[in-house]
Amino acid sequence: MRTPFLAGNWKMFKTVSEAVAFAEAVKGPLSMLKGVECGICASAVLLHPLSLALKGSSIHLGAQNMYWEKEGAFTGETSPVMLGGIADCVIIGHSERRQYFGETDETVNRKLKAALAHSLMPIVCVGESLAQNQAGETEAFVSGQIKGAFADISAEQAAGIVVAYEPIWAIGTGLAATSEDANRIIGQVVRATLAGLYGKDVAGQIRIQYGGSVNTGNVAELMSQPEIDGGLVGGASLKPEGFIALCEATAQAKSKG
Ligand code: PGA
Repeated sequence: MRTPFLAGNWKMFKTVSEAVAFAEAVKGPLSMLKGVECGICASAVLLHPLSLALKGSSIHLGAQNMYWEKEGAFTGETSPVMLGGIADCVIIGHSERRQYFGETDETVNRKLKAALAHSLMPIVCVGESLAQNQAGETEAFVSGQIKGAFADISAEQAAGIVVAYEPIWAIGTGLAATSEDANRIIGQVVRATLAGLYGKDVAGQIRIQYGGSVNTGNVAELMSQPEIDGGLVGGASLKPEGFIALCEATAQAKSKG
């Protein structure tokens, strides 16, 4: 049984004081919640204060990016060693990183290996553009991204990786994929590609989130789909009450499944 994982991706939002106030507001309610893992992925600047504010809670704390080297002359970068003891997960290869910061399947693969080597739970993002979707290229493109990201990663390591399927056209647009489409791509493309690499058993252990305009109105329907193991949520994760509602709805939808 895969435990659903609902993670907020705050992107480049919130100051330290706003982040700490959020953590204090969600910590109690979310620590009581069963049947779902919750997480906050925040800017590197916010991670240390958040780790102190979330102490004693079961809420995962994630970075939104990191470099693959342990240390060195890499101005502006954050290393996996620096995240140690502060964050326990890290988003890798978000489409905004690929689009604006030149990340490729190869850099995603290097970062993924570095995260695993430093015991950080990776959330690897994949997803097609609108043009690719309209050209009928979704299956081939997403499958290629998975193969690139997972190159030279063992089955044992793969089982602990979280994948987020985030169609780029659904991110920040208010236009989520339908739950049927998201379920189909996650099952028949993402999980099927992983099954081709590692076999059905391992692929069946890997958690695959859906991301792209998840909100309190559509979360229950999305999470009721059997292949969708949680969500990666941007805009709708920024307010404490909304984030709590998303986590609660995920736990509830999965408890019915
Ligand atoms: P959104 O972002 O929920 O605001 O669409 C999702 C993401 O980019 O992870």
